[in-house]
Formats: sequence, C-alpha cells, structure tokens
Amino acid sequence: MYDNWEELEKSIEGCKKCKLCNNRNNIVFGQGNKEADLMFIGEGPGADEDKEGIPFVGKAGKLMNEAFKGLGINREEVYIANIVKCRPPQNRVPEEDEATACLNYLRNQVILVKPKIIVLLGSTALKNILGKEYGITATRGKWIEKKGIKYMPTWHPAALLRDENKKIEFWKDLKEAKKELKNEL
Ligand code: URA
Repeated sequence: MYDNWEELEKSIEGCKKCKLCNNRNNIVFGQGNKEADLMFIGEGPGADEDKEGIPFVGKAGKLMNEAFKGLGINREEVYIANIVKCRPPQNRVPEEDEATACLNYLRNQVILVKPKIIVLLGSTALKNILGKEYGITATRGKWIEKKGIKYMPTWHPAALLRDENKKIEFWKDLKEAKKELKNEL
C-alpha cells in the first residue's frame, strides 16, 4: 500500500498482474476529486473507457451524468473508479482472478480518498467490496456500514438502459446518498 497518489499511480504503470493487460489500450485508473467525500465504484472499463482512459464516459456514463446533473451532484467533486482497471473482452464480468489481482489498487485508492460514502454500482462492485453473500436486488437502496464507511449499493448504470424502473430506483438511491452526505458534513 502507498501513502501517496504519485507512488500508487506509478505502481500501476504497465501492470501485468492479470490477463486483461493483453488487450487493453489504456489502464482506467480513476477520475475525480482525490479528497472526495462521495465515491463511486463500477465494474470495469468498456470500449469507450478503454479508448479514453477515463471511467464512465460511454453510454452508461452518460446516464450517470444525467442523474448527477438532475440531483445536483458535481462529477468533479466525486471520485469514480472500477473493480478492474482494464477492459474485459466483450465487456464480460471480470473473472475472480482478475478482480483479485486488481483489488489492491482500489483498496489503496479508497484509503487515500477517505470517502465517507461509497456508492457501489451493480453486482460486481457489491460482491467484490462487501462480499459474495450480498445480492444486488435485495441490497440496493440499503445502507451498509463497514469500517467507518457507509456503502449504498445500487444498479449499475448500464442496467438502466434496459429498465425504466431501475432508472427510478437508481435516482432514488443517489438522492439518498446525497442526503446522507449532507448529514455527515
Ligand atoms: N461500466 C463500468 O462499470 N465502468 C466504467 O467505467 C464504464 C462502464
């Protein structure tokens, strides 16, 4: 673990800890305010993110941006990262060995950002951060506190593209996270 961003960012350069390195164009490390109170964790980069090296810039990211805008969440004020930093082929779910190889980078990011609240975007983020026993359908919208951080699991923004109800719930969960953050500050 590194106690500063410079060393952490340097440590991931040219990473070959898992097979996802073979097809990547860019490592998608994370984006945003490195001292954010509110952090978002997704699954892994898609094609657009792999091209640009920035998380959530594709279709799902645009939906997330819309929700941010509607709820008065400033994207520059939050920190956004993923479970895996390199794009899985055909956007498949990251495999266990890939997530395990990558998780220490994310743990280190969380330690340095020190967020009060983390929104977990979808099942992959939920299971890798809080444990395999959690299911997104039963857990979304409910606060789970661990080691002084409040976690709000919600749908992955890509799921909203197919389901209007999930869109409503996603907005509700983000609204709740924003409200809780206000209470915390
Ligand atoms: N989906 C994710 O989980 N993360 C991204 O960065 C983009 C799409």
